[in-house]
Amino acid sequence: MFGILFEGDRWMAQIGYNETVMDHFMNPRNVGVIENPDGYGKVGNPVCGDLMEIFINVKDDRIDDIKFRTFGCGSAIAVSSMVTEMAKGKTLDEAIKITRNDVAEKLGGLPPQKMHCSNLGADALHAAIKDYWVKIGKISLQEAAEEEEV
Ligand code: FES
Repeated sequence: MFGILFEGDRWMAQIGYNETVMDHFMNPRNVGVIENPDGYGKVGNPVCGDLMEIFINVKDDRIDDIKFRTFGCGSAIAVSSMVTEMAKGKTLDEAIKITRNDVAEKLGGLPPQKMHCSNLGADALHAAIKDYWVKIGKISLQEAAEEEEV
């Protein structure tokens, strides 16, 4: 097990991950599932087929609790962890403004060949917020499905 981790560690470093990315990959924050969440977002990455789910609970219009589950690469896990940290405690209006680039920047950057992995985080977060907004009648399903500018 240790050997596998060490090899994985070395391999990740060879890809060009910085310490922040490595930390969030090795010690991801907010992993898990919220049963009956207020909002739920699930997105797939068309480039590689990886998948991310984000669950949120909302209190006083703020993200009170947030969890993620990701079936993907090291970058996708680090991105998931970071986006949940960035969103926690923010109002929904603030959190919906978190972009793919914001997450990548906060991680100190990703290697060019892994930049596409940063898409899942913000997209899944936005999907969870929109799911909540549809539930409370703030937006329509059609509005929730509209493409976003990133
Ligand atoms: S390779 Fe699929 S999200 Fe990174």
